Amino acid sequence: MARLVVVSNRVPMPTERGPRAGGLAIALADALRPGSLWFGWSGRRSARTDHQPTMQEAGGVTYATIDLSETDYRLFYAGYSNGALWPLLHYRLGLVDYRTEEYEGYRAVNRRFAACIAPLLRPDDLVWVHDYHLIPLGQELRARGVRNRIGFFLHTPFVPPELVYALPQANEVLASFCAYDVVGFHTLGYRAAFLACMQAVPGIEPQRMPRVIVDPIGIDADGFAAMAAESLRGAEARRMKASLAARSLAIGVDRLDYSKGLVNRFEAFARLLAKYPQHRRRVSFLQVAPRSREDLGAYQALRQQLDRVVGDTNGQYSEFDWTPLRYMTRTVARRTLAGFYRIARVGVVTPLRDGLNLVAKEFIAAQDPDDPGVLVLSRFAGAADELTEALIVNPFNADEIAEAMHTAFTMGIAERRSRHAKLRARVHESTAARYCERFLSHLAPPLPAAGSQRVSELAAQAI
Ligand code: ADP
Ligand code: G6P
Repeated sequence: MARLVVVSNRVPMPTERGPRAGGLAIALADALRPGSLWFGWSGRRSARTDHQPTMQEAGGVTYATIDLSETDYRLFYAGYSNGALWPLLHYRLGLVDYRTEEYEGYRAVNRRFAACIAPLLRPDDLVWVHDYHLIPLGQELRARGVRNRIGFFLHTPFVPPELVYALPQANEVLASFCAYDVVGFHTLGYRAAFLACMQAVPGIEPQRMPRVIVDPIGIDADGFAAMAAESLRGAEARRMKASLAARSLAIGVDRLDYSKGLVNRFEAFARLLAKYPQHRRRVSFLQVAPRSREDLGAYQALRQQLDRVVGDTNGQYSEFDWTPLRYMTRTVARRTLAGFYRIARVGVVTPLRDGLNLVAKEFIAAQDPDDPGVLVLSRFAGAADELTEALIVNPFNADEIAEAMHTAFTMGIAERRSRHAKLRARVHESTAARYCERFLSHLAPPLPAAGSQRVSELAAQAI
């Protein structure tokens, strides 16, 4: 079997203490086959920017990482990747902060990644590149003579041409997708938006188009369910359970990111307490929101805003023996997280936009099928395409989220079981392993030439 070479900016280093929040690294780590090589950023900033990666082995997987310089970090990671592409791909044009030198830094790091990876490749390796940090990597590898099959998967949404063209280098970035054999997205909608953008790029011949597939990511559902059941024996979950007494818990778990809709969610919880006083003292909300990308102004502003909203809500509704909203900004062990999901009566996943959202799947997998909690899910999370029996809400409408929380807290056992059974079946079917198998089945075999298909036909083609 061909060796798999995964490339992503963030690598879940096996030696790193504690969990690293972020869907990509977690889902792939759940599904990576032994013998694979994983290349990416070490997470460190240093002056050591030669082309010699540090190699480490764990669980049969070799991890090859390089450091970024301070300038790389500023231009490539904080700059173009997270200051321009991330907000753009999450429909937040107002937050796109773009500078030409950042695009140059972005291209330079992609070139350096290619220079480091090319000498490590064997002729029949399958190369699988992940996410918006590395869109031009395929092109840079091809420029170095790499002939291997190379696939790319985007973990964010994709946006229509009207938005993409806010990016001054839109044509260049879009054209660089043509270096890949396969390009994957979480949903049909993202794929359609991508194809519409590709049609708008001047001079792209149909035979240069990659194969474009839909392949929603998943979790290790069996493993996570077992961990959730088991973890209730953990000391932290026991403490949590005891502190809740007879109260019902709603839970949110998200990186502290403006795409996650946290302000509206907290506002919705306050409206729930205002409109339905019967929930006061009986329910509480736990939000776990590990800090993320803290060097960026938009993230610092969000944190301040959330501190204020949490303070206001708790100030208004707290009692001597009841704090309505608990808010933690650190990462917690996956096992503990699994236990909290299981204890929770309601899972609140209300991003304003989200590529897929693994938390929604983790919440479902963690429930006790005999007495399951209810998922409130944003219509703008990719996972809403699959998890249709959740209570689907418009995340911009705090009143609607509040109503859904009320429905969830008061839902009878029969309806909870019936919704959960369907959701659970889907989460156990569309796993991390299945995601990898599906992508690799498209990447591995020789593909028929796409030359016979026009770009417009590709746009209409269903998977
Ligand atoms: P994103 O990739 O945008 O962060 P996802 O919901 O797809 O969003 O993935 C987030 C992942 O990070 C999930 O697997 C979730 O369990 C994990 N995670 C989020 N918050 C924490 C935390 N505080 N501690 C540990 N893991 C976390
Ligand atoms: C999202 C992105 C990933 C990223 C993760 C954590 O899941 O799709 O590419 O790794 O967030 O963000 P960070 O900036 O810490 O890598």
